[in-house]
Amino acid sequence: MREYLLDGDHQGRPFSHRARALVYKRAKDLESAQPFGTDLDVYSSGYEWINHAVMARQDEVEDHRVAVGEGGCRKPYSASLLNISAMSFGALSGRAIEALNLGAKLGGFYHDTGEGGLSRYHLAHGGDVVWELGTGYFGCRTPEGGFDRARFRDGAAHDQVKMIEIKLSQGAKPGHGGLLPGAKVSPEIAAARGVEAWADCLSPAHHSAFGTPVGLMEWIAELRELSGGKPVGFKLCVGHTWEVLALVKAMLKTGIAPDFIVVDGAEGGTGAAPAELSNHVGTPLREGLVTVVNALAGTGLRRRVRIAAAGKITTGHMLAANLALGADWCNAARAFMFALGCVQTKRCHTGTCPTGIATQDKWRQWGLDVADKGPRVHHFHRNTMLALSQYVGAAGLESPAELRPHHLRVRVNENLVLHADELYRFLAPGCLLDAPQETPYGDWWAMADADSFAPRRLETAARSRAQLSA
Ligand SMILES: Cc1cc2nc3c(=O)[nH]c(=O)nc-3n(C[C@H](O)[C@H](O)[C@H](O)COP(=O)(O)O)c2cc1C
Repeated sequence: MREYLLDGDHQGRPFSHRARALVYKRAKDLESAQPFGTDLDVYSSGYEWINHAVMARQDEVEDHRVAVGEGGCRKPYSASLLNISAMSFGALSGRAIEALNLGAKLGGFYHDTGEGGLSRYHLAHGGDVVWELGTGYFGCRTPEGGFDRARFRDGAAHDQVKMIEIKLSQGAKPGHGGLLPGAKVSPEIAAARGVEAWADCLSPAHHSAFGTPVGLMEWIAELRELSGGKPVGFKLCVGHTWEVLALVKAMLKTGIAPDFIVVDGAEGGTGAAPAELSNHVGTPLREGLVTVVNALAGTGLRRRVRIAAAGKITTGHMLAANLALGADWCNAARAFMFALGCVQTKRCHTGTCPTGIATQDKWRQWGLDVADKGPRVHHFHRNTMLALSQYVGAAGLESPAELRPHHLRVRVNENLVLHADELYRFLAPGCLLDAPQETPYGDWWAMADADSFAPRRLETAARSRAQLSA
């Protein structure tokens, strides 16, 4: 009642009525043009825009893509600039997973399995799949819950599996494992996860396959080999800055780098999470993205590792803004749920989702028609990519890959507007190697250790700096 009768267009959380209405229109392939001018307050803080060019280019609908793993992998992948972010079978219904995968197939973009393993629903329509490995190693686990190489090799060999994503953390609940209560572990979910049916299914808080940044890089190399040469990356919500720097130090030390890093923001979604973790743990997307971009650029690794961004992305503008800040592509989860018909009742954790998307109740899923919703997923993707192309054309650019921080302007307050490169400090290539203390990351860099996720004590770090300069 409140939603439909009382709330204004810009109200409603986490997604406003206006944001959802745009996704619904694009998914239904309806006219999404806006009459009469913007109803955003362009003088309010946080308002942002992309600069346009006098010599704007005719916007053309182009399927811009980004190459992942080229040079380092036997089976590199060409990714769309917008893909379906990780959501497990278990959090979502089998029919929802099927419709997402059908949409991915129709539109030529990828569908991330989420940590719940590769289910038959992911494989029913032939859409590209990114297989996510969480701390429970679902689909490739030993009976004790560790990582099982042989099972991984079998799953990763599937032709539909295009890349492997190690989940370190997720923005909505960083630093938290999870427990799927036995009552929800149906035989189908148990089969996808490789666990016992009707028994509690635990995801530990951290991985057992590695314990140090160097260990993670070595595991990445092993997964790349076991998968027959597919790109391997990891997903994280940025936490301690020294950990991100420890990861790049490990890349330098081992010579092994992930093919991609997905940066997830604290504003990201989940099926269920403890309120405090959802509300007050984890770095929001933009700050996290800039940290990862700087860590890679500052160590000369930026050209080798692709970066993806996820966190409340629903429009062409949000895609463009994240690309301008340094992402190579973006992923969205809840926007694709809206394309399936989600009405934001926020009952994902109760099993009583009225749209059949976030429930295992067969009766509730009955109305989710895969043949109808799959094309909606495709339309939402296509129309959002068209909006991105129009944006890029207006800015006078040939490709979204040319978007840079100076294209994005942000209103800080009524009287002050900054370009994104004035708002955030971007590091020059290699400067963390040459003169870390001249960057804002100097002390974090000294604390970062390729052989441990724990910080070096600053006095120890200062001593090793002194030794280095001597
Ligand atoms: C229902 C649901 C289930 C999710 N399950 C996973 C998961 O299994 N693994 C994961 O890494 N992220 C998971 N996420 C997080 C998303 O993949 C993504 O990182 C985050 O929601 C940002 O996307 P959004 O803001 O576009 O929803 C889930 C999100 C939702 C809404």
